Amino acid sequence: MLQTKQQIIDKLHKELEEQAKNNKPDPYRLAYHLMPPMGLLNDPNGFIQFNGVYHLFFQWNPFATEHGSKCWGHYTSGDFVHWKHEAVALTPSDWFDRNGCYSGSAIEKDGKLIVFYTGNVKNEQGERETYQCMAVSEDGVHFEKKGPVLSLPPGYTAHFRDPKVWQHNGRWYMIIGAQSSDETGKAVLFTSTDLESWEHLGAVAGAHVNQLGDFGYMWECPDLFPLGDKDVFIVSPQGIAPDGYLYNNLYQSGYFIGKLDYINAAFTHGDFTELDRGFDFYAPQTTMDDKGRRLLFAWMGLPEENEDSHPTRENGWIHAMTLPRCLELRGDKLFQKPAEELQQLRKKKVEHKNVILDTCPQKLDGIRGTAAELLIILNEEVGPDTTFTVSIREEAEITFDSTLKRLTLSRLRFAAKTKEYRHCRLAHLNSLQIFIDTSSIEIFVNDGEEVFTARIFPDPGNDTITFAANSRLSFNVTKWDMSFVLPGN
Ligand code: FRU
Repeated sequence: MLQTKQQIIDKLHKELEEQAKNNKPDPYRLAYHLMPPMGLLNDPNGFIQFNGVYHLFFQWNPFATEHGSKCWGHYTSGDFVHWKHEAVALTPSDWFDRNGCYSGSAIEKDGKLIVFYTGNVKNEQGERETYQCMAVSEDGVHFEKKGPVLSLPPGYTAHFRDPKVWQHNGRWYMIIGAQSSDETGKAVLFTSTDLESWEHLGAVAGAHVNQLGDFGYMWECPDLFPLGDKDVFIVSPQGIAPDGYLYNNLYQSGYFIGKLDYINAAFTHGDFTELDRGFDFYAPQTTMDDKGRRLLFAWMGLPEENEDSHPTRENGWIHAMTLPRCLELRGDKLFQKPAEELQQLRKKKVEHKNVILDTCPQKLDGIRGTAAELLIILNEEVGPDTTFTVSIREEAEITFDSTLKRLTLSRLRFAAKTKEYRHCRLAHLNSLQIFIDTSSIEIFVNDGEEVFTARIFPDPGNDTITFAANSRLSFNVTKWDMSFVLPGN
């Protein structure tokens, strides 16, 4: 039966109170990442800076650690590093979103924060229906739903969702993730002058569109934006087979660089590049802030994958957001850097200069941590036939192999505790910036050339960091403890 927003909020408050009473020790609550107070978090939604405040909404099933009827949870931040958990923004409480307020985006118009999202409905025959809906807020916290603004155009299945809206030359544009009737993934463009009636311009990218061949059965969470003099198109395709070091996760998230021809509704683009080389990264969303930065958050997790064996489930929650990243385009390659505001979380600096590593594995005084940032800068080119390994908390290992020109992250599988690997090609290793949290690791390689993200579940007290190489190597290393605990953690 359809519940009203108030009924859902009342249930939520009751469960949060119950949870607070239980107060079980929970060593895997993250120290400086966003995560749900309870239930399941997935995609970042409605990411925007509005009246100087950063808003990040998220897909949230508060009542179970499974996917289900999603609400939009909500965090805000004035400084982009300390976040406040706000009241739930959207609940599945209307005929057009009764089985979930699915992913979407936010814009500002006439001083109002307006969000677009997908109303997910299972009809009486058990079939999926999809509605692209609008909701408006004066204060950025309370939303009034306006209902559907766009229904399914012919030629697509009901897997049609995740509207991302932006403005260009005085018109509004919306791009939607889709599956066409031949069951291949597409991104479909619409335009509007008033945000309420939308004209269908067609599929601008997708499997069997332009120069692309087979490329998945569904494209989720599209995001198209200008960067420099090019357009970047980020998308999460499903159904791509592994290809050597590429596409080894169940689903992918990556980007195409190109140019959107707004007149002819056509996007010419280059190849698809994965945004992250690790195990846990999906459904990213970007926004531009008043400093002119293109910022990105992603879900530090993946649909379906590993959910059964996730150790946090017994504590009533699952998944988290990545750290925020700032995007830069160099040629046709996106560089991703951790948002510089994260430096405010740095405490207790420990530094070792000109560490000489020979063939004995080394631990360094004070270089340890369960919630820490580690910056390793190589002093010279890694020599031939050399492998250099940094082991984190005896759970994750980062290895550069100068012969294979390859960087590898290995971690222990959540339940089985056997090793699993992700790799990327890397010509040179200059630096590793590693963010360690109680149950995650993010590695920024060579100032953002590559990034690896993974959840890890080490022994909670294990804070060891070990360096090893099979021949002589010199580097500088700095470690800071990181501190910020979300209120209520
Ligand atoms: C991506 C996704 C979106 C959908 C949402 C539902 O992870 O499947 O396509 O809107 O999650 O929670």
